[in-house]
Amino acid sequence: MNIRIEIDGKPALSGKTALISGGYGGIGLSVCRGFAENGANCVVADLPQSPSEELGVLMAEYPGSVRYVPTNICDGEARKALLEQCKKGFGSIDILFNNAAVFDMGPLLESDEAQYEKLFRVNVNGMFFLMRAVADEMVNAGNGGKIINMASQAGRRGEALVSHYCASKAAVISYTQSAALALAPHGINVNAISPGVVDTPMWDHVDSLFAQYEHRQPGEKKRLVGEEVPLGRMGVPGDICGAALFLASGMSDYVTAQTYNVDGGNVMS
Ligand SMILES: NC(=O)c1ccc[n+]([C@@H]2O[C@H](COP(=O)([O-])OP(=O)(O)OC[C@H]3O[C@@H](n4cnc5c(N)ncnc54)[C@H](O)[C@@H]3O)[C@@H](O)[C@H]2O)c1
Repeated sequence: MNIRIEIDGKPALSGKTALISGGYGGIGLSVCRGFAENGANCVVADLPQSPSEELGVLMAEYPGSVRYVPTNICDGEARKALLEQCKKGFGSIDILFNNAAVFDMGPLLESDEAQYEKLFRVNVNGMFFLMRAVADEMVNAGNGGKIINMASQAGRRGEALVSHYCASKAAVISYTQSAALALAPHGINVNAISPGVVDTPMWDHVDSLFAQYEHRQPGEKKRLVGEEVPLGRMGVPGDICGAALFLASGMSDYVTAQTYNVDGGNVMS
């Protein structure tokens, strides 16, 4: 689905620059396409040295205005270099789609500090310090901004086998609320999106881990979680784009500190 929104006769994100972490594939790539189609310059940051084939196609469709910067968001120097690239390329950062994350799971009583550290290093530390660095730029530029953090239905309640990931996503929701209050005087809106189950490379990994821990056939967990969604199917990355566009654009100027469930009806809050 392509969404094209005009505000005052112009594409909704015309003249804006968006930084998208974790946009090599999955939800981040789909949202990058949505932002580019609505007039934004986009800088995608992810771990691999080169963009994925699909991202390469998008970059060719929007030459010069969609760029890729290999970045580990957990590395302070790399974050600094990323922001410099954004400013050098486009002058400012108006939108942060703070999306990069990792997933892992396992029995709570078998978990160790390495597993905890692996999840919290990216999903909390990387997420928070990228948000902080971008917020700093936005405050100094004085033009306001939009920050969208990627939470999860996993952040709404615990799961026996998924404790660290759930806790890391609960932290995303909490930091979103605190940052929204801290940054409101600067005209910066901070919100989060909480997907349910979305068919991405991450869910292929989730499925293989459930197969291991719940002794299931490959693909079985994915099928079951899709069937349990009230709207009757797993999400696809494009399902997140509408909410992301709303939160990135002037349509959400009076919305902050919220976490939007975009999950086919899984969570009611
Ligand atoms: N897929 C789902 O069902 C689902 C559900 C709820 C929430 N989410 C959240 O949505 C977001 C996107 O997930 P997705 O399903 O598209 O996953 P994905 O694995 O396809 O994308 C995540 C991206 O983050 C990147 N990344 C990981 N560590 C990084 C680091 N240190 N620095 C830079 N990039 C890094 C990965 O390389 C990957 O490209 C994540 O925050 C995820 O937790 C996904």
